[in-house]
Order: sequence, then structure tokens, then C-alpha cells
Amino acid sequence: MSTKKTIPRVALPPGVRPDTLAVREGLPASAWGENSEALFLSSSFLHPDAATAAARFANEEEAFVYSRFSNPTVMMFERRLAALERTESCVATASGMGAITLLAMSLLKAGDHVVCSQSVFGSTIVLFAREFAKFGVETSFVSQTDLGEWQRALRPETKLLFAETPSNPLTEVCDIAALSAIAHQGGALLAVDNCFCTPALQRPVEFGADLVIHSGTKYLDGQGRVMAGAVCGGQRLLDEKFVPVMRSTGITLSAFNAWVVLKGLETLAIRMRAQSASALELAQWLERQPQVERVFHPGLASHPQHELAMRQQAGCGGAVVSFIVRGQQGGGAELARRNAFHVIDSTQVCSITANLGDTKTTITHPASTSHGRLTEAQRQAAGITQGLVRVAVGLEDLQDLKDDLARGLDSITSQ
Ligand SMILES: Cc1ncc(COP(=O)(O)O)c(C=O)c1O
Repeated sequence: MSTKKTIPRVALPPGVRPDTLAVREGLPASAWGENSEALFLSSSFLHPDAATAAARFANEEEAFVYSRFSNPTVMMFERRLAALERTESCVATASGMGAITLLAMSLLKAGDHVVCSQSVFGSTIVLFAREFAKFGVETSFVSQTDLGEWQRALRPETKLLFAETPSNPLTEVCDIAALSAIAHQGGALLAVDNCFCTPALQRPVEFGADLVIHSGTKYLDGQGRVMAGAVCGGQRLLDEKFVPVMRSTGITLSAFNAWVVLKGLETLAIRMRAQSASALELAQWLERQPQVERVFHPGLASHPQHELAMRQQAGCGGAVVSFIVRGQQGGGAELARRNAFHVIDSTQVCSITANLGDTKTTITHPASTSHGRLTEAQRQAAGITQGLVRVAVGLEDLQDLKDDLARGLDSITSQ
């Protein structure tokens, strides 16, 4: 795990670039000389004698001990993701929600206060609003893009600001540098969920964020195979606050899942570039469709934070496009929902599933899936209407995706 500073690694020349780190960083200098990262399926690890075991359990000597908190394959994933995020360290978790749970349990106690964007993933809102509230941690939800709201929400007991950028599903972009300044002035830390961009497009610590959250289930894996998560940040903060909580709670990433996601990182950059390029072209095409009321993609000139996104995300909008199907104003929410369902049900290529970040394009109706557990008021605050459809663009031929969406869009008027 991230604390294993002394475990020997295959040395890379100083200054190698991200595409090289993505395929080579983190390999331990193993006695077997394997070229491909090994999968270590072992619950525990041997000690030469009882005294050494005692020293290792007491953290006086670094070694692998027990896979709930230290495993070589998990360590390789942590080292590689930290290198890509440009953070000193990383702690892997069982899922993205596990990473946010670890974040809260490591940093917060009863009486503390959090300021969180109201546009984050649905389960993140539920976790802060409902679950952490049970333990006396209060969360204020604010507009993703109104910096004044973030500033005004600060209290003396505010310990954490939490943002997700671009947000799921409306791709709202927040200014990480401005948020980190607000957090630090208030004596709080800023955590950014970097799931939509990944380090291939955006590295939040370069803009002042303290911690980066990942759902590895998404683009880091990239092929929809396993659940995974991670928290990236400074070595000292993670070692002192996060690793002990990880060890006690067991929100652990399995070695198998770590191996899958580790190999996923090798193709992350080319997938992100290709999928983002297709997403932008699809978004531009959707903007021209008469049955589409509005399209959300940070790469579009019409996106309210287009310039900020281009600066913060290496000139790339990401691979998620959302759009509102016409029908809302005339026929109300019910007609809008029927039309959105019709577009989704008419697809023959896209996968109807709420996951994203897959090489297979996925399509979903956020109001009834990813954000279905929110109250109507929370959904409205997040801008998630019944006519909204989210497409997470994969690697299929773009014309096939346009044809797939056109099937439903073209027949809306004739329903
Ligand atoms: C932006 C974002 N963060 C976190 C999560 C949670 O990740 P996981 O499903 O791996 O727990 C998701 C899941 O969809 C997400 O979209």
C-alpha cells in the first residue's frame, strides 16, 4: 500500500512523461523478473520469525502483512495512479463510494461541517446528506459554479469542501483553483472527484486541490469489468489519517480488481482522447437535431464554463454528453420522461445502463437511475429534469452512435 516507500521498484529515468508512467510506473523489482504486473492472490504474507512479525504489525518495519491493508498488486495500482495524478501517495478502495466514505471517516468527526456541490453524483449527495449526518457531520449543498455561495457557506467548523468536475450528468465545471483558495482561507481541505476527466485530462492538485477522489469503476478500468476506487493526496496526510482508517474498516480494493484497473491505466490516455473526441462530435451533432432542446458538453462553445473547462481539462471536454429531449415545455414532465425513455429504448447499439467510462457507449435516464434516490427538490437543485438523457461515449464507430440516437429522436414527433 502507499506506505510501502521502501519496497524496491523498477527504476524509470527521471522526468519520464505521463504516457510512459501509465504503462510502467509501479512495477516492483520482483525476484521473478516478470514483465507484466503480477496478480498476488494471497490473504496474508509470511514473516521469517515472530519478532519480525511483531515489528511489521507495529509499522516499525515495512512489509506486506495482510491484504486488507497491504498487497503488492494493490500497491502497484496505488503507485501508478499517484504518479499520474502527480500526488505523493494514493490509497485504493473497494469502490468510488468507498473512497468518499474513507475521506469522510479520515477527516471528519461529529460537529464538523462540509460544503459540497449540489451537482455531485446522486449517491454522494445521499452519503453526505443522510449517512454522515447520522454521525453528526452536517453538509451544506451549494451551486457548483457560484463561488459566492461556497464562500458564504463556510463556517468556523468547516473542514472539507467537496466538488466533482465536470459534474454527473450535466457536466458543470467548477473552478478548482478558486475553490482551493476559498477552502484554504477557511482552514479547510478541498477534495475533487476526478472521475469524469481522469488524470489523463485534469490533475486537480495542480490547481490547488488537496485530495483527489476516483471511482476506478469508470474510466480507470475502462471496460466496465470491476468496482474500484481511490483517494490520492499528500503522503503524510494519507499515512497519518487515511491508512489507519483503511486498515480498521476494510474498505479494501481486492487484488484482482487492482490488477484489472492497473492494466486499465495503461490505455487510459488514448481511450480518453478518442472517446472525448467522439463525444464532442456527437454533442455538436445533437445540437443540430430539432428534437433536442439543449446539449451539455464542456467542449461545446455554448457550454457556460467552456473556457474554464478548456483551461482546466487540457483542452478536452471529456466523454460524457447529456441532452434534454424536447417535449418538456409543452407537455410537462410526464411527456418529457416518455420522450426520453423512447430515445433510450430505441437504441440498438448503446447499452442501457447507468455505468459510464466503458469502451461500450452507455445511455441512461439520470432522473430515474443515477439520481433516482434524490428528493424532487434535490433533483431540481441539481438541474436534473425528466427529459434529460446521459450518454457516456465509448469507442464504437461514431456514425453508428448517431444512427442509434437518431432512431428514437426522429420518431418522437410521430408518437
Ligand atoms: C462522479 C462519480 N463519483 C463517484 C461514483 C461512485 O463510484 P462507484 O460506483 O465506484 O462506487 C460514481 C458512480 O457512478 C460517479 O459517477
